[in-house]
Amino acid sequence: MEQQFPLLPRHLAIIMDGNGRWAQARGLARVDGHRAGAEAVRTVVTECRRLGIPHLTLYAFSSENWNRPKAEVAALFGLLLDFLGVEVPRMEREDIRLMVLGDVDGLPLAQRTALRHGMSRTAHCRSMTLNLALNYGGRAEIVRAARRMAEAGIAPDGYTEERFADFLYTEGQPDPDLLVRTSGEQRLSNYLLYQCAYSEFYFTPVAWPDFGVEALHEALRVYAGRSRRFGKTQEQIDGR
Ligand code: IPE
Ligand code: IPE
Ligand code: MG
Repeated sequence: MEQQFPLLPRHLAIIMDGNGRWAQARGLARVDGHRAGAEAVRTVVTECRRLGIPHLTLYAFSSENWNRPKAEVAALFGLLLDFLGVEVPRMEREDIRLMVLGDVDGLPLAQRTALRHGMSRTAHCRSMTLNLALNYGGRAEIVRAARRMAEAGIAPDGYTEERFADFLYTEGQPDPDLLVRTSGEQRLSNYLLYQCAYSEFYFTPVAWPDFGVEALHEALRVYAGRSRRFGKTQEQIDGR
């Protein structure tokens, strides 16, 4: 099956959108959609690990998502705890490293503790990195990086693009090759603004809870057929 994908992204980033609409279309509560979405996360992580995609980043909670009803926010964080309880031991077994992109200190205590525990338990894992973007905002990340660089005493001429990237949450990881957003919306919603400068974008109408192995494969097939030029001409790339 792997031959299906002559070119896999080294880093796949996903905006997991549409849980609420998925639930509403079924006469269910939004939280039921989030529960189904958590199942989709398990499926996609497992398949990415099997295929050998080394970096996977999932947008789980944006800094703007605090504006949602209190009960929905609480339900999302409850699901996160359940997820970590089951998945961290499995990630350890499967050699998957857990990382958080975002302001962990701004999360509730139980979630903060479980995330820190998960990150330390899997710190040695190397087969894949699973980044959960939680309490994450792209602009805040850029401002934070600038502030951290200044605090590190770096002189203005030391502010290079590469150096700057070392102060982002994604330090040491490649930029996303492919950005997927589910459920029809075509916007970034403050996601990985610095890192997505040259990412390929793929939008699908499929709602996140329905995004399974088939939908993932379709996104990867489309990606493999894209022509990335990075400013060059196609002739240069083909060596003609
Ligand atoms: C994505 O689904 C999950 C989070 C943002 C946490 P939504 O909850 O945004 O679902 P829609 O977009 O309202 O359908
Ligand atoms: C983006 O989805 C954030 C996550 C998927 C966690 P939203 O549903 O919050 O985005 P907007 O508000 O529609 O742009
Ligand atoms: Mg949404």
